[in-house]
Amino acid sequence: MSFAHRHLLGIEPLSQSDIITILDLADKYAAFNRSRHKHSDALAGRTQINMFFENSTRTQASFELAGKRLGADVMSMAMAASSIKKGETLVDTALTLNAMHPDLLVVRHPHSGAVDLLSQKVNCAVLNAGDGRHEHPTQALLDALTIRRAKGRLHRLTVAICGDIAHSRVARSNIMLLGKMENRIRLVGPPTLMPARVSEFGVEVTSDMREGLEGADVVMMLRLQKERMDGGFIPSEREYYHRFGLTAEKLAHAKPDAIVMHPGPMNRGVEIDGDVADDVTRSVIQEQVEMGVAVRMAAMDLLARNLEERTDGEEGVLV
Ligand code: NCD
Repeated sequence: MSFAHRHLLGIEPLSQSDIITILDLADKYAAFNRSRHKHSDALAGRTQINMFFENSTRTQASFELAGKRLGADVMSMAMAASSIKKGETLVDTALTLNAMHPDLLVVRHPHSGAVDLLSQKVNCAVLNAGDGRHEHPTQALLDALTIRRAKGRLHRLTVAICGDIAHSRVARSNIMLLGKMENRIRLVGPPTLMPARVSEFGVEVTSDMREGLEGADVVMMLRLQKERMDGGFIPSEREYYHRFGLTAEKLAHAKPDAIVMHPGPMNRGVEIDGDVADDVTRSVIQEQVEMGVAVRMAAMDLLARNLEERTDGEEGVLV
């Protein structure tokens, strides 16, 4: 098993084989997580620090659980409550933490590129848990694992990614991952919520949900990222739901066995109908959460194996 990366900052630098390596190991961890004894020593002796400068439920909880199940010492810092915001202060924080010898640093930050910057200042492995509208690699990986397990493959599928694409790091990382694995990607949403230069992405684009969902194997819904909007991107939530909200009627245009995904947090009645989200014959939203823990275990395990090589010989000073 080879994964020659020091950090996990995005999907962009990963090869097809890197992606498969993470997913194969995550599959094993998914089985492990369903067993009674959910504890390994893969990260024993390692220190994991979680720094979330933005709100998070799923991502932070699953990174924390992932580290604990692998035997790491895990510390989650309450960054949102602190006055630290950006620039030099972020670098100072990174240097301070670095002096405490962490092995894994999990970082979420509202500014695109902030996690990359931080990774250049520390000696440990850095995992990007979402930076602005840039990347959210573990989300795309857990989505990929969920798709692979539901569909039996991760190539030649038609995937419709719907809603607020412009502000979504989840969409960006997914477009890259699904593109690398040779899938057909359709972006569906109002033109105001499409990223600039979308035509360069090698994807199909439409503002018609029925057209976008036609024959799709996977329907991925996204939340309206209001916290990243600085003006009127949609007329009203009611109007948005009417045109872009996923209902059973719109879903009927996708393949009969199409799966419904959402990274959470979900706004029922805005981008998705509650009954569609809860329909366990179509919705894999809870599986996504389950795979999130497994994928984060796999990613931290692989990065820590690379750390091993660098720190071997320096260890055992006190024994
Ligand atoms: C996403 C995020 O934070 O980018 N949530 C998540 O990590 N599961 C999507 C969102 O906030 O809408």
